[in-house]
Amino acid sequence: TGDTLSVQQLNGRIGASLSGVRLSGDLDPATVAAIRAALLQHKVVFFRGQHHLDDDSHATFAELLGTLTTAHPTVNTGSAKVLRVTANRGMAANAWHTDVSFVDRVPAISVLRPVTLPEYGGNTVWANTVAAYDALPAPLKALVDNLWAVHTNSYDYAQRDEEHDEPDANYSRADFAATPLETRHPVVHVHPETGERALLLGNFVKGFEGFNHTESVQLFNLLQNRIQKLENTIRWQWQPGDVAMWDNRATQHYAVADFDTCPREMRRITVSGDVPVSIGG
Ligand code: SIN
Repeated sequence: TGDTLSVQQLNGRIGASLSGVRLSGDLDPATVAAIRAALLQHKVVFFRGQHHLDDDSHATFAELLGTLTTAHPTVNTGSAKVLRVTANRGMAANAWHTDVSFVDRVPAISVLRPVTLPEYGGNTVWANTVAAYDALPAPLKALVDNLWAVHTNSYDYAQRDEEHDEPDANYSRADFAATPLETRHPVVHVHPETGERALLLGNFVKGFEGFNHTESVQLFNLLQNRIQKLENTIRWQWQPGDVAMWDNRATQHYAVADFDTCPREMRRITVSGDVPVSIGG
């Protein structure tokens, strides 16, 4: 029930560990509401000891939080709901990003669990994009409050260095190139559940409307560096049985590719979200 869930804050600005709950599709509404409240407050929450989960129960749990998206808009995953993330093997997870921000309806929540962990390395880091916005000086807020960014998948994946990626049948550059996706989002959006303002940037940003490429790069770096400031982040060292769940509307994340050729495989299930809304509505 809701009152057995215990929430332990992990860092000043982001992250909490949730215990006393066995994740499944059978959780009662009070517990689901308590998990959701902790997620909205702490932006990413972690569960240990969820060894019982498989892809199906992972999905039925995630469904308690909302409608699931397809596993990925362009990647041929072999599954309707489950994205297999093998960082370093064609997925650009080792760059700061908000999941699939190049679509109109940016996913609301992602739920990730490891199936194979490397002997060393392979941590994931999350950053709080609400705290990053709050900490901006007033003149910078005034600049970004009415700014729009173009997000694209081709920009990101076109940068990939195929020579250093092991080939993987599921993830090829041709797939991405065949499905170019591009959209515009407000740089500052109003969170539909909390009303908080958050920066929406990350690795899929191609540029800002009204700025040329050089200016866009400079402005992007200025803002992105504030998001990924270490005080604004939490770094998670995975153990078998862990589950991480993040609010994709209030975070970015980065999978650290420091595990050499060790196998690492994660499974991600994503809950759909709304079109991001600017401060002006
Ligand atoms: C992701 O970018 O969603 C995956 C993160 C990870 O593999 O740790």
